[in-house]
Amino acid sequence: MEKEKKNSLLKIDNFLVESDKINTSDETFNKLMFLYSAGLKELENKFDIIKEEFKYFYSCDIINHTQSRIKKPESIIKKLENKNYDITYRNLIEQINDIAGLRIICPIKEDIFTVVDIIKNMPDINIIKEKDYVTKPKKSGYSSYHIIVEVPVQLFKQIIPVKVEIQIRTMAMDFWATLEHDIKYKSNFKFTKKMSNQLVKCAKMINKMDDEMVTISKAREN
Ligand code: GTP
Ligand code: MG
Repeated sequence: MEKEKKNSLLKIDNFLVESDKINTSDETFNKLMFLYSAGLKELENKFDIIKEEFKYFYSCDIINHTQSRIKKPESIIKKLENKNYDITYRNLIEQINDIAGLRIICPIKEDIFTVVDIIKNMPDINIIKEKDYVTKPKKSGYSSYHIIVEVPVQLFKQIIPVKVEIQIRTMAMDFWATLEHDIKYKSNFKFTKKMSNQLVKCAKMINKMDDEMVTISKAREN
């Protein structure tokens, strides 16, 4: 029974024709974006509760704040084009994992792994993919823990699993990633080797700082 109620985004109300070309101003697109927003809301709510639970029950913060966003229609099309996929609804659903994105910003590095464990223990959350750029940062210096999950969204007649990309990072990692995102990652400006190395150097300093914060926090606990 439970299984029958589950459905894929592709089949919802049978309104999606698999070969349909995307039109970002049509009803199908709006319905789909509604579903991604609903998935995001479900997940945000879970983490609001966890954040409050830690505050009231354990007198500490493992989450400083969360941020969420739905990918802009033009960015969705651009991403499909860059990946050489046909601009169809099927490809949007199956090939793009970050239409709904949730960022969880933690005070210290250890909290990231606590949050990861919490996610892995959520019985209704299905893990699709994970990448640990905290233990092994990217060449650019970028550091964060990424998990792609499927969140069940309860609708009137069915439950729809919706994909959300979760990025978990410290406040210090967020500072670096936010600046680097604007000046390099998403910019057309051609970075010199020297400038890229400077950014990597900053990322390493931040990583060292994050590690020291863990040491201080542990010393305080003892
Ligand atoms: P897509 O890039 O989403 O196609 O997937 P992927 O699997 O290649 O990406 P990955 O998991 O490495 O990164 C996904 C997201 O992480 C990006 O959309 C960015 O938000 C962020 N990210 C990855 N690398 C960097 C980086 O070098 N700098 C910054 N600022 N953000 C990054
Ligand atoms: Mg992305």
